[in-house]
Amino acid sequence: MTATTTTIKDAIINRRSIRKLKKNENITKERMNEVLKTALHAPTSFNMQSGRVVVVMDNEHEKFWDIVKETLRSRVPEENFAATIERLQGFRDGVGTILFFENQETIEKMQEKAPSYKEQFPYWSHQGNAMLQYAIWMTLSAEGIGASLQHYNPIIDEAVKKTWDIPGEWSLIAQMPFGEPNEQPGEKTFLSFDDVVKFY
Ligand SMILES: Cc1cc2nc3c(=O)[nH]c(=O)nc-3n(C[C@H](O)[C@H](O)[C@H](O)COP(=O)(O)O)c2cc1C
Repeated sequence: MTATTTTIKDAIINRRSIRKLKKNENITKERMNEVLKTALHAPTSFNMQSGRVVVVMDNEHEKFWDIVKETLRSRVPEENFAATIERLQGFRDGVGTILFFENQETIEKMQEKAPSYKEQFPYWSHQGNAMLQYAIWMTLSAEGIGASLQHYNPIIDEAVKKTWDIPGEWSLIAQMPFGEPNEQPGEKTFLSFDDVVKFY
């Protein structure tokens, strides 16, 4: 897999959920650092930069998906657990997982600084995190790296915090397993453009 040059239009159109991944030694920490440095140009409300990212790779990544599996074991009906394991295996077979957090301390400080927007900051925090997630996902996709967006929080939060010494004020928002794509994305349908977009 080599780095590719992609137009912004192609990067947006080609980004898809890839839920079956495989290892690839060319997806390195150095390369992920470049992806993250690029994506951190994503905007945030008042430039508050409340997003935090933890990347687990290789053994730590496998440990993460083992934690998810063990957490789900007691919660998923036994007859569905085989399908759950298979789904999780598609992620675990990848190279790493990006854990997205929001620093609640930043949000509280912003609420004190701009009290008239107090109620809005939790929404803006999630919106900013989503923009970061999307910027990373698109940048990965432009590099030929497969990824998807997962939400096993909040049931895994405690174990994640303990395992990787995550500060108490960081709340887990989403997980993005990545690796070499090991599936073609499925068909995707779209609402009619005219039902979605209005010009006047
Ligand atoms: C806010 C948000 C939450 C999502 N949560 C999950 C999730 O928990 N698990 C999952 O497999 N996909 C999740 N997805 C992926 C969507 O199912 C997927 O993006 C959508 O079906 C369109 O497919 P595409 O990503 O291939 O374009 C999420 C996407 C968004 C934007």
